[in-house]
Amino acid sequence: MSILSGRRIVLGVSGGIAAYKAVEVCRRLVDAGAHVSPVLTEASRHFVGETTFSALASEPVQTSLWDETSPIPHTKLGQGADLVVVCPATARLLGTYAAGIANDLLTATLLATRAPVLVCPAMHTEMWEHPAVQDNLALLLSRGVHVVAPEEGRLAGGDIGAGRLADPAVIIEAIERMFVPPDLQGWKVVVSSGGTREAIDPVRFIGNRSSGKQGHAIAAEADRRGAKVTLVTTVDRPINQSIIQVRVESAEQMRQAMMAAAADADLVVMAAAVADFRPVAPAADKIKKDRGVPQVILEPTPDILAALGVVKPAGQILVGFAAETSDLRENALGKLTRKGADVIVANDVSAPLVGFEHDTNQVIILVRRAEADEVDIIDVPLDDKRRIAAVVLDVAASLRPTDGVARSN
Ligand code: C5P
Repeated sequence: MSILSGRRIVLGVSGGIAAYKAVEVCRRLVDAGAHVSPVLTEASRHFVGETTFSALASEPVQTSLWDETSPIPHTKLGQGADLVVVCPATARLLGTYAAGIANDLLTATLLATRAPVLVCPAMHTEMWEHPAVQDNLALLLSRGVHVVAPEEGRLAGGDIGAGRLADPAVIIEAIERMFVPPDLQGWKVVVSSGGTREAIDPVRFIGNRSSGKQGHAIAAEADRRGAKVTLVTTVDRPINQSIIQVRVESAEQMRQAMMAAAADADLVVMAAAVADFRPVAPAADKIKKDRGVPQVILEPTPDILAALGVVKPAGQILVGFAAETSDLRENALGKLTRKGADVIVANDVSAPLVGFEHDTNQVIILVRRAEADEVDIIDVPLDDKRRIAAVVLDVAASLRPTDGVARSN
């Protein structure tokens, strides 16, 4: 039986050309046994007719605050829903929702519901990249709204760029994930993300290409699965405000923040790309280029993962990452032992679409199973970083102490 069976889902459709793909999403949800109530905005009906949804959905199609016999359709729909999905979500819909304006049935439903909300934006690249749209989305994310980001590809009118609605299969998978039980409830999870910056002088630093996307995805997924999450990060990316953020810049600042946050954590994930070397003595003033090429003497940074491995309390699960360009397995195995980690997630960052800056990743996960005194190796094919995050947390959850009780319970 599908995890969607019997779920009451409001499917909001706003007015973009991608509305035709909402028909496919509706059909798949109904096939999986969900009770689907389509709510169409006025503009969406210029793209797809009400009849199409009436033929496919299991519940009546609704289009207006005024066409029902019930006097309060705007609260009834949202109150009865297990999930509200908006597919596609136009720039107007995101803006109206973020501003808290309820000027049609869909926006009224979004404000009236206590159910989780998943929005699937789709629009032209220029609109998608507009700071107003990105700010609205960041605001919605911070309030706990879930987002299936659009893809790059061919848009209406033949242009190519970011803003195309995610594939219906990806949207269905994201909807299914919304119903996975909160298996990390009662867990304290600490995640690091982003690359550290090691000062050469007040304006220059040694850094790396890490975007923080993978670490942020792990924090967001742990939050969605019910954990209390602390994110120690060097980057500014939108994230749910229920996650405690600690902003740091250098390896030393990250070490201090991680050691403090990890002391009573059930799970610690070092996804950050920590610089391995830093200048011994950063200059107090900007180094002038007319004074000759400076000789910057480097020293190793503290190895945070190894330090966490040394003080790891009993029952805590410690996950490290390994960004490699060759000999992936050998290097990852070495790190698993050397750093005292339970899990190493290793990726070959020289492969296409893998690792730094991309939205996708491909990893092998090495798991030390204490009772069997052996290492399991799981191959995870190229996938969205959110999916990789879910697999990493599945592995961590499988290492939960046998009494099934999280340390912070
Ligand atoms: O040794 P290497 O840098 O390849 O190890 C990778 C893992 O160790 C990652 O999880 C990274 O976050 C962590 N690391 C660390 N402190 C360092 C260097 C790496 O915690 N100074």
